Amino acid sequence: MKIAINKNRLQSEIDELALITEAAPPVVTRVLFSEADLRGRAFVKNLCREAGLNLREDAVGNIFARWEGLDKNFPVVATGSHIDAIPNAGKYDGVVGVLGAIEAICALQQSGFQPQRSIELIIFTAEEPTRFGLGCLGSRLLGGVLSPEKAAALSDRDGKNLEFWRGQAGCVGELNSVWLPKNTYAAFVELHIEQGPILERENLDIGIVEKIAAPSTLRIWLTGVGGHAGAVLMPERHDAGLAAAEISLAVEQAAKNSGSPDTVGTTGIFRIEPGAVNSVPCQAYLEIDLRDTLVQTRDEALAQIEKAAVEICQRRGVELKMERLNVDPPAICDAALVETISEICTAQKISSKRMISRAYHDSLFMAQVCPTTMIFIPCFKGYSHRPDEFSSPEQIEKGVQVLAETLAALTSH
Ligand code: GLV
Ligand code: MN
Ligand code: MN
Repeated sequence: MKIAINKNRLQSEIDELALITEAAPPVVTRVLFSEADLRGRAFVKNLCREAGLNLREDAVGNIFARWEGLDKNFPVVATGSHIDAIPNAGKYDGVVGVLGAIEAICALQQSGFQPQRSIELIIFTAEEPTRFGLGCLGSRLLGGVLSPEKAAALSDRDGKNLEFWRGQAGCVGELNSVWLPKNTYAAFVELHIEQGPILERENLDIGIVEKIAAPSTLRIWLTGVGGHAGAVLMPERHDAGLAAAEISLAVEQAAKNSGSPDTVGTTGIFRIEPGAVNSVPCQAYLEIDLRDTLVQTRDEALAQIEKAAVEICQRRGVELKMERLNVDPPAICDAALVETISEICTAQKISSKRMISRAYHDSLFMAQVCPTTMIFIPCFKGYSHRPDEFSSPEQIEKGVQVLAETLAALTSH
């Protein structure tokens, strides 16, 4: 069986989707349920229909596109990723795993392959945390990791909650219907750009993911005392902005001193109010992203940041409110799936290595539901979450080829 990937068609679809953005191209920004995100979803659903797939959407907007297998009673093999994009993103993160999966399915169809069990593409809602602060919203709900009550209470910067947004997006049904029973899927395999430099540096075609690092998010609200930048003398100040600045430095220190080279800490959101040059900041808001491959060092660093925040705020006379939004374990990928993909690569003369994913993905939560792994392809200098993110059509083609071969191997019996 020859599986021929149409890399030019796939590239033009990637380019077309990249033009559906809230920001001017080449920047891609598609925040969950924004007008651009809804148009992006419509674009992808249309491609699924053209491929003859059966579409279904759940109550949180996860999209399922199924190629029915000969035996509808066998557990399904799933693939997929996301098309939402953080502010100032590029065009490959998530998209390669969605449009690449459609291409893999089309190539399998054209080769004459007929799956015994169904193949399902999942386009997950809000892998990115931009709107609600919490990443992997759709897959958390699918995996039963996030309760419907907690999900419903999530609200964005403007105080609009998930119920509002899913109503806007036309999602129907109750959130408690999203959860997947454990044996729904036989396997889940996500194709994604590496978002790191290793494959390019080592001149390898494919990474096969054995473990996904453990992410966590801390939110901090600080209330100080505002006032006139000329009139309030320095000993009298309770500057919320300076407390926030010190906490951000404590994040850096905690990550650097954790004893694990894999601990990474980022204060990616830092807002001060009222935001006037001649006014002492009275309020600050921080979102801190802390990750590690090891739970223990991640958790120790998290506790150290919280302790530092308490000390800094006491010393500065600033009121502190903290919340651990998510503290997730790492995912261990399925050894048999990793081995299957490794063998496929060898048979296809495609170079590969086993690796860790430092970024999180919907696979982190799909791993709670079924055997899971990921196929990584190289990207230019490891750049990601920036507009110059890039993988070549040839690199993408190899990833799609490995995905197609994997889906065929997993659904031929
Ligand atoms: C996913 O986008 C992540 O932040 O790892
Ligand atoms: Mn991302
Ligand atoms: Mn992604």
